[in-house]
Amino acid sequence: MCGIVGFTGARSAAPVLLDGLKKLEYRGYDSAGIAVMDGNEISVSKVSGRIAGLCEKTKDGAAVPGTTGIGHTRWATHGAPTEENAHPHLSNDGRFAIVHNGIIENYAALREELIRDGYHFQSETDTEVIVHLVEMYYAGSVRDALIKTVNRLRGSYALGVICSEEPGKIYAVREASPLIIGVGVGENYFASDVTALVNYTRSVIYLEDGEFAELSEGSIRIFDCTGQEQSKKVSRILWDVQAAEKGGYEHFMLKEIMEQPAAVKATIAPRVSGGKVDFEELAAMSDEELRAVRKIVVTACGSAYYAGCAGRYAFERLCGLPVQLELASELRYSDPLIDDTTLVIVISQSGETADTIAALKEAKARGAKTLAVVNVVGSTVAKLADYTVYTWAGPEIAVATTKGYTTQTATLNMLAIYFAARLGRIEDQSKYVAAMQALPRRIQQAIDLNPSIPALAKKYHDNRALFFIGRNTDYAVALEGALKMKEISYIHAESYAAGELKHGTIALIEEHTPVIALCCNPSVTEKTISNIVEVKSRGAEVLALTFRTNRQMLSVADDLLFIPEVDALFSAVIEIVPLQLLAYYVAKENGCDIDKPKNLAKSVTVE
Ligand code: F6R
Repeated sequence: MCGIVGFTGARSAAPVLLDGLKKLEYRGYDSAGIAVMDGNEISVSKVSGRIAGLCEKTKDGAAVPGTTGIGHTRWATHGAPTEENAHPHLSNDGRFAIVHNGIIENYAALREELIRDGYHFQSETDTEVIVHLVEMYYAGSVRDALIKTVNRLRGSYALGVICSEEPGKIYAVREASPLIIGVGVGENYFASDVTALVNYTRSVIYLEDGEFAELSEGSIRIFDCTGQEQSKKVSRILWDVQAAEKGGYEHFMLKEIMEQPAAVKATIAPRVSGGKVDFEELAAMSDEELRAVRKIVVTACGSAYYAGCAGRYAFERLCGLPVQLELASELRYSDPLIDDTTLVIVISQSGETADTIAALKEAKARGAKTLAVVNVVGSTVAKLADYTVYTWAGPEIAVATTKGYTTQTATLNMLAIYFAARLGRIEDQSKYVAAMQALPRRIQQAIDLNPSIPALAKKYHDNRALFFIGRNTDYAVALEGALKMKEISYIHAESYAAGELKHGTIALIEEHTPVIALCCNPSVTEKTISNIVEVKSRGAEVLALTFRTNRQMLSVADDLLFIPEVDALFSAVIEIVPLQLLAYYVAKENGCDIDKPKNLAKSVTVE
């Protein structure tokens, strides 16, 4: 949901800003802009469309002199993605330029007030009220004007501000939107996330909500919302530069699919040894605390929610605890039955999803113990939860998650084993640990077993609708498989519990309707095969995902995808991989913009 970046130093700012924006483009890509300060002059360049257009307009930054600046890539919320609505926005007196990620909830009232006071608006954005407020409150100190301004704002914001009265300085403010400070040598930066900074520095400061940063080429000062100076820890970024590059792949999504064996290994390896699963991060959770848990509530959005759907089975089977799944956007407004006997597991790749954060806060307010499964270190979800377990997937750039999902499901599986052992429900963990350790290898096999996917994509790409069916653990994976297909190929894909078909949906099956049938759970194979036969007898074209050894399927399905044999309890980690590849190649056949699907953004920091 929008990416922001800021730079101050001795070299030309525009190329650094543009480079940072390219890295942040996955957060929003419908318009973009930079504001660069040269002495006391601020010049703004904006485009509707991609960063490439901004690079062209500014001659890769060469046309915009100045060593201090801010930049923005937008995912429109208020106002169409036009050049007028693109950030940065300027104050009426031209002294301030501002970029913003987030939403100002009370902007309408503020806008009316500012118009009454004589301010002119150039855009339809909520952001523009901020820059006029800063102008209104400015009386010689940008810091004071910002403090007064943010006291008037309700909502979420990461702001970057420059002022022509203070050459060489950039200001950044954070409230419920991600923002980090990059610590350089003779230059400093801010950005929505580390991917924009890894080319320049590995040293970062994570801002807390309500904090301000005042940066110049040789100094970083952080203040709280009352203006009190704060001393902050500098952290090291461990992600390597290549992790945020395509590395020879045509798309980030394909690269990230292929990275899954390594990502899952990096997630599992530190938690298994000596035939046991152990989470250092959970050492502080007492046995008493754990035994008091009566139910687990899993909450998240999108694919992270579907990872929860897949993870549920291992918790129920191994821990003997009921698992309730709640979409975060629903939980937050549902008066949920959550109390101090509930363990709420929150799943988020970015750790910045607005609904997930709200659900987590709601759970905490009701006294639940909260455990976050998160990929981004230092993110809001990671900081808010009582316990945080990181998935070590590395940066995920493609908007459609792949290694985020597989590392989440693997982590949930390990947590189920770990809790079951601590609850005394499993004595010998070795067979489960062996299954976990085999996952990275099995993912690679699931890739290698399916060289026919590009050809299958040619067969199945030209359809208006696809159905994904499965039972039990297969159904959970069907949910994510259908989402992958929808979001990147724009083909309508529905997932159904196979047993539900005859309660309505089978009416949609006609000659050549494609049905993707997941059949990797031996306890329900026979049942799913019956459903396949039902849809086939109504003309469906069936592409089945199953084990190579499932001979029966050879004669039932029209086409086949394979995974190596794996315990159904943990199979989601493997089973999703051929479906990710299928979605990828179908989208490619359809000429879609795979890494940046229309209307989507990577990190949904607005409600
Ligand atoms: C789909 C996808 C989204 C995210 C969802 C939650 O491919 O990526 O559905 O899973 O927006 O995001 P996080 O995990 O960052 O909270």
